[in-house]
Amino acid sequence: MSDKSNLATNMVEEPGEQATRRAFLAAAGAAGLCYAAALAYPVYRYLASPEEMALSATAVTEVTLKDAQKLPMGSVLMFKFGTAPAMLIHHADGRWVALTAVCTHLGCTVQYEPQADRIHCACHGGVYNAYTGANVSGPPPRPLTLFKVAVNQAGVEVSRA
Ligand code: FES
Repeated sequence: MSDKSNLATNMVEEPGEQATRRAFLAAAGAAGLCYAAALAYPVYRYLASPEEMALSATAVTEVTLKDAQKLPMGSVLMFKFGTAPAMLIHHADGRWVALTAVCTHLGCTVQYEPQADRIHCACHGGVYNAYTGANVSGPPPRPLTLFKVAVNQAGVEVSRA
């Protein structure tokens, strides 16, 4: 009888030991939640990114390019319109043109070629009109988006048409 009662008293947990176990389980649960959140956040960002990118692309409606009025004729200034690359061209005849610089074929960044006075996409050879953004040859299915341009003393304001 005394052996059994000794065995039973040995298996009863002390109150301090029980509190330590609870603290450990709470800490493990909190660490598990943090780990799950760390795994879920990149998945959320990946799934939400196309919507967010579309929203941020349309959120910006105007960009002011300080001192861009000094851009020499026959040259180009690349800039960001929101999150997308864009270009401001000061043509040799004095006209100003601003367009998106994202190829409508597969999204490569296009380049202005002043000697040919055209916009060229090096990825698959797409060519655009440097005044209107119209797709002239190659695989691009649509023209580049044209922006409004206002030149003043402080710079050049580019806005959605
Ligand atoms: S991405 Fe520009 S022509 Fe294909």
